[in-house]
Amino acid sequence: MRSPQVVLLPGDGVGPEVAREARLVLELVAPDVALDEHLIGAAAIRATGDPLPEETLAACREADAVLKGPVGDPEFDAADVRPEQGLLRLRAALDAYANLRPAGDVLIVRELVGGLYFGASGVRDDGTVYDTCEYTPAQIERVVRRAFALARGRLTAVEKANVLETSRLWRRVVNGIAPEFPDVRVEHVLVDNAAMQLATAPEQFDTIVTENMFGDILSDLAAAVTGGIGLAPSASLSDSGPGIFEPVHGSAPDISGRGIANPAAMLRSTALLLEHGLGRPDEAQALALAVDRTLDTTPTPDLGGTATTAEFGAAVREELALTRA
Ligand code: NAD
Ligand code: IPM
Ligand code: MN
Repeated sequence: MRSPQVVLLPGDGVGPEVAREARLVLELVAPDVALDEHLIGAAAIRATGDPLPEETLAACREADAVLKGPVGDPEFDAADVRPEQGLLRLRAALDAYANLRPAGDVLIVRELVGGLYFGASGVRDDGTVYDTCEYTPAQIERVVRRAFALARGRLTAVEKANVLETSRLWRRVVNGIAPEFPDVRVEHVLVDNAAMQLATAPEQFDTIVTENMFGDILSDLAAAVTGGIGLAPSASLSDSGPGIFEPVHGSAPDISGRGIANPAAMLRSTALLLEHGLGRPDEAQALALAVDRTLDTTPTPDLGGTATTAEFGAAVREELALTRA
C-alpha cells in the first residue's frame, strides 16, 4: 500500500513558524505519512509571480490531504496579484465547500466556495465598484446537508433573511431539508443577533451553518470568545478528493519572525487532517489531547504565557511520547 501523501503549504508570516511544528508533530504521530512541501501565497508570488503555482495545485490534487499555513503579506495589500487569491483558487479547485470551524463547544459550518467571495466583481467607468453575492439552491443544499449530519440535536441557520434574497433562499433550503433529519431541532437566527449571542453566550450554540462571508466573520468571533484566535483550526472538505486543513487565523504580520505565534491552531488542524483527511481518529485524538494538555502547561504569550512557538511544539511532542510510552 502506498504511504499517505500530505502536501504541506507553509504560507506566509507566522505560517512557516507554525508549519514547522506541525511537520515535527506529524512525523512523530504518523511517521508513515509522506510530507511534500510547496509554495502558496506571497512566498509563491515572490518565487513565481503566481500565488498558486501550477505545480502546487497539481501536487494538492494528487495528495490525500493538504495542510496549510496562513497566507497574506502587507506588501501585497494594494497589488493586483495578491496572496489570498491563491487560497481562494485552491479552495475552488478542490471544491472544498464544507468548512468546519470548531471553537470551544460550537461548530461553525461555513460555505466556502460560493457567495460574495466568488461572485462577479469589478469597476465601472463612473468609478462605481461592485461585489455580488449569488447562491444556487444546490450550492446551499450540499453544505446544509453536511451541517445537519454533523449537528448533535440542534442546528442554528444564520442569515440575513430580513434583507437579502440569498438569505431567504438559505432559509427555504434549510426548512426543505429539515424533515430528512427529524432528530435535529432547527432554529433561524439573523446574523447581527447571532454575533451578539455568540459574544455574550456562546455556550447556547451547538452547530451553526451559514454562508461564506458570515461564516468568515463569525468564526473569528467564536474563536475569540472560546480561548483565542491562536487556538482555532479548520477543515475544508469536498465530496471526494483531498480536504484542506488550516488555522482560522491569518499570517499575523504584527508578530511574525519572533517565534512567538501559538501553533495550537495549526496543530489542531493537523489533528483534523488525521481524522477527516486520512481516517485516523486514534492519532487525531492523541494529538488533540496533547495540545490541550500543553495549553495548560506551556502557554504562549497570546494566552498570557511565555513559551515560544518551538517550546510549545516540543511540549506537545513530549506529551505524545509520554502517552505512547
Ligand atoms: P490575523 O489572524 O493574522 O491576526 C489578527 C491578530 O491575531 C493579530 O494581532 C495577530 O498577532 C493575532 N494572531 C493571529 N494568529 C495568532 C497566533 N497563531 N498566535 C498568536 N497570535 C495570533 O488577521 P489579520 O491581521 O487581519 O490578517 C493578516 C493577514 O492574514 C492578511 O493578509 C489576511 O488576508 C491573512 N489571512 C489569511 C488567512 C488564511 O490564510 N486562511 C486567514 C485570515 C487572514
Ligand atoms: C479565512 C481567511 C480567508 C477567508 C481570506 C484570507 C481569503 O480570512 O480563512 O478565514 O476569508 O476565507
Ligand atoms: Mn477569516
